[in-house]
Amino acid sequence: MTTSNASVWRFVDRPETTINEQTFRLDQQALPALEEGQLLVRNLLISMDATNRLWLSEREELYMEPVKLGDSMKGFGLGQVVESSSRMFQPGDLITSLTEWSDFSVLDATAVQPFTCPAGLELAKAFGVLSIAGPTAYHGLFNIGQPRPGETVVVTAASGAVGALAGQMAKLAGCRVIGTAGTDDKCAWLINELGFDAALNYKNHDFEAELARACPDGIDVQFENVGGDILDHCLRHMNNNGRVVICGLISMYNSNENSPGPTMFHNTIMKRLKIEGFVILDHAAEMPAICSQLTSWLLDEKLKFKLNISEGLDQAPAALQKIYTGMNDGKVLVKIADPH
Ligand SMILES: NC(=O)c1ccc[n+]([C@@H]2O[C@H](COP(=O)([O-])OP(=O)(O)OC[C@H]3O[C@@H](n4cnc5c(N)ncnc54)[C@H](OP(=O)(O)O)[C@@H]3O)[C@@H](O)[C@H]2O)c1
Repeated sequence: MTTSNASVWRFVDRPETTINEQTFRLDQQALPALEEGQLLVRNLLISMDATNRLWLSEREELYMEPVKLGDSMKGFGLGQVVESSSRMFQPGDLITSLTEWSDFSVLDATAVQPFTCPAGLELAKAFGVLSIAGPTAYHGLFNIGQPRPGETVVVTAASGAVGALAGQMAKLAGCRVIGTAGTDDKCAWLINELGFDAALNYKNHDFEAELARACPDGIDVQFENVGGDILDHCLRHMNNNGRVVICGLISMYNSNENSPGPTMFHNTIMKRLKIEGFVILDHAAEMPAICSQLTSWLLDEKLKFKLNISEGLDQAPAALQKIYTGMNDGKVLVKIADPH
């Protein structure tokens, strides 16, 4: 093989709450020889996702295998094939996959997907939107939320990767859109740059009163990324037959314990609500159609998207931390290499 060693972040210390400097360790490791059907992949970009913290927990009810102590840390990545022992891929091909926080990985060809960067789109932006965030926003909003023109849609963590896209899509669907975010600057960006009708800083002490003022006709679709108190406040203002899309519950991820459910859960009956969660990985069959729509919206500049790129594999733990502290605005990626 052209490369025999890789730098890799290992998960070495289970955090009680937030990830910290002890959680991961950067090691050198020898790459195994390629077996039939395997690929040597240069990891170019690693997506930092809120869900990564859940993979470090010992929760029994996870949607995929957690990362075991001592194993390499995992993440969704964009890579380039360096060597191939599979007929499915050639050196130079771009792929996406669940990969390692590493500069090089050996992956099974059956576990990766080919990636074509649409003409006219920058590679990092195409990966940032089309791999996870865009399909998640699209599926959650349209297939579950089913927004109708004139309805009121509230999106939480609205300045983040998924939330910013979901809110803009709800505007494209003709809805009145209210976002929540953790700083006044983020709120201003949602209104002035993305065209949200209102944006509320959930850290303000009178958040619920502001929410009531911003939604005089109630809420028809709640696109939930946060959970906890914010979800409760929104449930209080749901309209009859409202739809609550449970996309994420980031306020609960930094605990290894389960949190109590929403206190306004009884509105599920009183307001005849539909509450539905989903995992985007279950919807691979929808991806081509969703990505085609997302691509044309991006090319037509109907969707704006911010990237928050950290340069270098050594930055991965700090990059992931940004998501839980709100230090990011936009999609957090770690750039390891350019394509060759
Ligand atoms: N269901 C699926 O298949 C799927 C797929 C991808 C992502 N998701 C979910 O989508 C959500 C957004 O993910 P993303 O990747 O787009 O991340 P992101 O929104 O780009 O970043 C997360 C944002 O959440 C906010 N946040 C963090 N901790 C918070 C807390 N305790 N309370 C309130 N807000 C908090 C922060 O912004 P502020 O400054 O506003 O606090 C932060 O910037 C996550 O919940 C994630 O799990 C679900």
